Amino acid sequence: MSNIKDEINRRRTFAIISHPDAGKTTLTEKFLLYGGAINLAGSVKGKATARHAVSDWMEIEKERGISVTSSVLQFEYDNFCINILDTPGHQDFSEDTYRTLMAADSAVMVIDASKGVEAQTRKLFKVCVMRHIPIFTFINKMDRDANDTFDLLDDIEKELGIETCPVNWPIGSGKGFKGVFDRNRQTVVTFSDTQKGTKEGETKEISLQDKEELIAEIGQAAYDKLSDEIELLDGASAEFDLEQVQAGNLTPVFFGSALTNFGVEIFLKYFLEMTTTPLPRKADIGIIDPVENEFSAFVFKIQANMNKAHRDRVAFMRICSGKFDASMEVKHVQGGKVMRLSQPQQIMADERKILSEAYAGDIIGVFDPGIFSIGDTVCSPKQQFSYEGIPTFAPEHFARVRQIDTMKRKQFVKGISQIAQEGAIQIFQEMNSGMEEIIVGVVGVLQFDVLKYRLENEYNVEIRLENLPYEHIRWIENKEEVDVAKLTGTSDMKKIQDLKGNPLLLFINQWSIGMTLDRNKGLVLSEFGRN
Ligand code: G4P
Repeated sequence: MSNIKDEINRRRTFAIISHPDAGKTTLTEKFLLYGGAINLAGSVKGKATARHAVSDWMEIEKERGISVTSSVLQFEYDNFCINILDTPGHQDFSEDTYRTLMAADSAVMVIDASKGVEAQTRKLFKVCVMRHIPIFTFINKMDRDANDTFDLLDDIEKELGIETCPVNWPIGSGKGFKGVFDRNRQTVVTFSDTQKGTKEGETKEISLQDKEELIAEIGQAAYDKLSDEIELLDGASAEFDLEQVQAGNLTPVFFGSALTNFGVEIFLKYFLEMTTTPLPRKADIGIIDPVENEFSAFVFKIQANMNKAHRDRVAFMRICSGKFDASMEVKHVQGGKVMRLSQPQQIMADERKILSEAYAGDIIGVFDPGIFSIGDTVCSPKQQFSYEGIPTFAPEHFARVRQIDTMKRKQFVKGISQIAQEGAIQIFQEMNSGMEEIIVGVVGVLQFDVLKYRLENEYNVEIRLENLPYEHIRWIENKEEVDVAKLTGTSDMKKIQDLKGNPLLLFINQWSIGMTLDRNKGLVLSEFGRN
């Protein structure tokens, strides 16, 4: 048992969130470099080439040169076993990106120092806050001209509503970037450009006490500015408090430059120290402890068509407790069946390897003959519980689906229902209508193309999508107390229902949501749907 306990306690599972181009891929690459998982940075992605290698499973990906799905990377560093959950890094991210965050125990937020908090970061951040997981901030690209450091921190606090605590502090930026001041050790680490690939940089560490040496290194002006800023900072910023960090109320902030490999290893070291071991999870029988309980996991993502010829699906599971052994029998709680998981594998950047064992904190992908749904629990046969479901995240784009050949009604309904079950899209109906009028909602518009493509290629059904102007959807939290027929909204509001008959409201803008809440006292709306 102690071996299992040690294996679990050395695991760290986190997601990296950022807006496209902030440097998420570059930072991940450098992490892998330190872990020795790759020899030369650059092999995770040569932008156009290796991104394909991550998941080369769909024509759309190839055509557009993007990765629709997310992958998991595992590597060892300093006796930690680290799982990084990668999230699709372009504008058209999908609900899967949100779901990936449900499988992480903490998040690293990468921010471009010249841009501050951007749209995609804001969206993903909301999900982290909902889960109260620790969030670490890496402010990247300090080798380029950056915004004022205090302004950057202000931006995070105001935009995201989380307190910041800088662990290090930058000295200049762009051409004038001299390094960072490590507040903990009261030491300046000087900047050196390690030419993208190598580990060893020619950095110097100079204590703040060694004033003369420091001035000789960074110059009088930079020294004076740093002294002023340190004084201001000590008075103004929140004090470091690990409990607050772990509760997700305070984010430790680091500055660096992933491209030139500066500040990355320091960040990794502090991060591993401050972040959490695999977290306990809520189930219907109470909290499940990762070490005390036998094997259990939940499905957070289903990916279809990994192999086009076989129409196969892979279910991704996050192990929440105990040890998984490929030869063991497990119980699929929702299906009520005991079985062996077929072809358990670990999905790495450019390869899949069949694995024989894994521990709480790890992510495994298993072949899914069509039995798993998102949120399902799998556990050792002796146990009986289900993990709390994964919420449904609000789509932001909606379209009415028209079938071109109405003779193929059955295939159409089957296809669209299956694709919805995998969680790639959400489907809705007009109030009091059957499957005649289907409205589809997606988180990223690319999913519309995925839907069209898959219906044509897998189900031989052609559709036309008619875009609808709505951008916001809200679930009615207290639907038992509300007479939906009598709700008075704004003229642009639309009432719809999901396949289970739950009422939902569509809005064109945020203002209409506020207005509707004003007009219907007692109405409670939510951005997340509970399954
Ligand atoms: P993403 O995954 O968040 O989308 O970002 P990615 O790492 O792909 O980085 C986006 C661009 O920013 C890349 O340049 C990358 O080289 C650059 N970059 C990342 N970190 C830093 C940094 O610390 N400093 C500077 N100056 N640039 C950085 P690109 O030209 O768009 O792509 P590529 O041709 O280098 O692959």
